[in-house]
Amino acid sequence: MDEADHSLFSRESLARSFSAQQLRVDPGSPGAASAATAGQKVFGHVPPRRSPLHAERRDTPRRTVAATIAAIIATVALIGSAATAWAQDVAAGEQSFKKCLPCHAVGEGAKNKIGPALNGLEGRKAGTIEDYSYTEANKNSGFWWDAASFKDYIKDPPAKVPGTKMMFPGIKNEKEADDLWAYLRRFGSDGKPK
Ligand code: HEC
Repeated sequence: MDEADHSLFSRESLARSFSAQQLRVDPGSPGAASAATAGQKVFGHVPPRRSPLHAERRDTPRRTVAATIAAIIATVALIGSAATAWAQDVAAGEQSFKKCLPCHAVGEGAKNKIGPALNGLEGRKAGTIEDYSYTEANKNSGFWWDAASFKDYIKDPPAKVPGTKMMFPGIKNEKEADDLWAYLRRFGSDGKPK
């Protein structure tokens, strides 16, 4: 093999002849990009360390993290304000319960007064405090206490339980009724807050 033959098979000359065959395309033609890629595959290509594509890939997770943190902060704030609103409702309900105090007690050691003790109301059947003497109307009313039945009852007690001896005109204001329920539902049957 002479010098010329040898140089024909050297890496540089191969590269040159390959490029001449494969990459001789109009740079604007659709084949240009794939020809260039083919050339890169054969002869190796070291990508620039920070191509615009890489820069974007690096930024995306950061933006995602920032968005996640913002979402967490917003959620915590929301839970915080919901908790504050709930505490305000309960406090307002406690105030409103003063209207019921002449006849009802609630909480630890609560006794029946003119009306039954109101512990463990949520989920309990109406007219079922054992040592209280209800009217037949209340005893046989046949519903369970929950937010909906309580609100329905308290806005007009004789309308929900015709013949009840609860002499009380009712709470017409929906927000006040909600607050009252927020306050009352907390007491378990032992009178301890749930
Ligand atoms: C003037 C007295 C009086 C007032 C004031 C009063 N109640 Fe009553 N309440 C009664 C009586 C008496 C009963 C029993 C009714 C019956 O047996 O028919 C009763 C029954 C109830 C019951 C049914 C309990 C059960 O075990 O089924 C609930 C609930 C209730 N009252 C809530 C309230 C709330 C809340 C207030 C205040 C907003 C209030 N009451 C104000 C006298 C009163």
